Amino acid sequence: MTPPVEEARRRSASDYRFGKVLGEGSFSTVYLAKDIHTSKEYAIKVLEKAHIIREKKTEYVMREKEVLRILGSSCPYFVRLYWTFQDPEHLYFVLTYAKNGELLKQIDKCGCFTIDCARYYTAEMVLALEYLHGKGIVHRDLKPENVLFDDNWHILITDFGSAKILKTDNTEKCDNDTLDKGDRKRRNSFVGTAQFVSPEMLSESSSSHASDLWALGCILYQMVSGMMPFRGRSEFLIFQKILNLEYEYPEGFDPQAKDLVQKLLVIAPNERLGAMDQTTYTSIRQHELFKDLNWDDLGPPPKIS
Ligand code: ADE
Repeated sequence: MTPPVEEARRRSASDYRFGKVLGEGSFSTVYLAKDIHTSKEYAIKVLEKAHIIREKKTEYVMREKEVLRILGSSCPYFVRLYWTFQDPEHLYFVLTYAKNGELLKQIDKCGCFTIDCARYYTAEMVLALEYLHGKGIVHRDLKPENVLFDDNWHILITDFGSAKILKTDNTEKCDNDTLDKGDRKRRNSFVGTAQFVSPEMLSESSSSHASDLWALGCILYQMVSGMMPFRGRSEFLIFQKILNLEYEYPEGFDPQAKDLVQKLLVIAPNERLGAMDQTTYTSIRQHELFKDLNWDDLGPPPKIS
């Protein structure tokens, strides 16, 4: 079978007209680029080989490519990797262009989301995490900068540079009968972003699917209030607040959203809502915040406001 990320004809940078910078990371720059043959727009992530080798990040780059290959095109909530190619200095990842940019930009623009909007996008993230975790992958750096919007305002989760592949069985069905989700964790070094990092990643350097559920709680809090739950003048102070579960709800915070956030922001990973669920996050789906939601068809996204 032909791998989905490769095409018969070899590609190179000369197949694209490179435009504006869409984003910059420590090891890469993402450009808007147009395929000169089809005029289709893509986001091309360009990585400098020497920099990656110097900083010993080869493993992360290979992991990102492998995760994107596993995800393929069967779930609509992730950016897709179309092609990869290289020249002597660079690696290129040709990705879906998320025309409507970052969730963070939208939260900042509105101040905060209406509860309908926050509910809808939390639901899309739950469906995305069901798919991702079902494949044995933990994102580990879920945050509003890594949740993008496509042309139709559906989410596209991106940036798998910190992701972890917990099992090698990548079949559609999850082998939860023999492997409990609560046991699916590995010791690993700190990755991610200070404000969204889970307590177990800080205290034990371990992560599991439940670390992404923690991040989901942080993102829901931020959509509803416009603020991150754990804030501080330094990373150290933020980490202390996370480890002590030290955060507050501003006045007027929607009570159902508050209940869900409280059930996700739990220090013990296995006690987070959904953490012990199998294949679908049934206990999250059944939360009262989602009582009028049809999980089989979320319908069109509400206008962001
Ligand atoms: N910024 C980073 N990645 C992007 C993408 N795939 N689409 C749009 N903006 C981005």
